[in-house]
Amino acid sequence: MDHLTQLCARLQEAASASPYAEKKLVFGDGCQNPRLMMIGEAPGGDEEKQGRPFVGKAGKNLSAFLETIGLKREEIYISNVVKLRPTKESPKTGKAVNRPPSKDEIAFFLPFLQEEIKVVNPQWIVTLGNVPLKAVTGDAKAVIGDWHGKPFTLEDGKILFPLYHPAAIIYNRALSETYQQDLMTLKGLLEK
Ligand code: URA
Repeated sequence: MDHLTQLCARLQEAASASPYAEKKLVFGDGCQNPRLMMIGEAPGGDEEKQGRPFVGKAGKNLSAFLETIGLKREEIYISNVVKLRPTKESPKTGKAVNRPPSKDEIAFFLPFLQEEIKVVNPQWIVTLGNVPLKAVTGDAKAVIGDWHGKPFTLEDGKILFPLYHPAAIIYNRALSETYQQDLMTLKGLLEK
């Protein structure tokens, strides 16, 4: 069993003995030692159904992102901080709808993400939004508005490039322009 498979097995075991035992886990996906690892917040409904991160609507955003920076999905590794879909009951429909991950969920999955990053060993880490930014930097006060669009060298030499979460830019035109500029900055850095 390779390291990544072992890590997933350990996470599955820990989750089975936790309050999240009934939840389906969505593990990271992609190759090891990639140029870039992308880290989102948590899977949504499509991801939970298909068992893969960034599929459905988020997958379309991902395709546009990859096209801009000139990489293919097979060339990168994609994961989330929280490996289950955080849900709450909609008061209107009674159905499960997405909610942001809780502090407890983030704390439970964080050590596994840290190990996943070590095992996957990417050169670049792209975080989407505040949750993965705080998780990767270990800085609870880090906010994406201050960190986005600039590279940071982490202690282990990997380069972090924080982006806004694509969901945050949908209804915000100014932020959408900033996001596009940040993507062009990243593309330029990756071409160097
Ligand atoms: N899909 C994911 O897998 N992660 C996100 O952060 C958003 C959508």
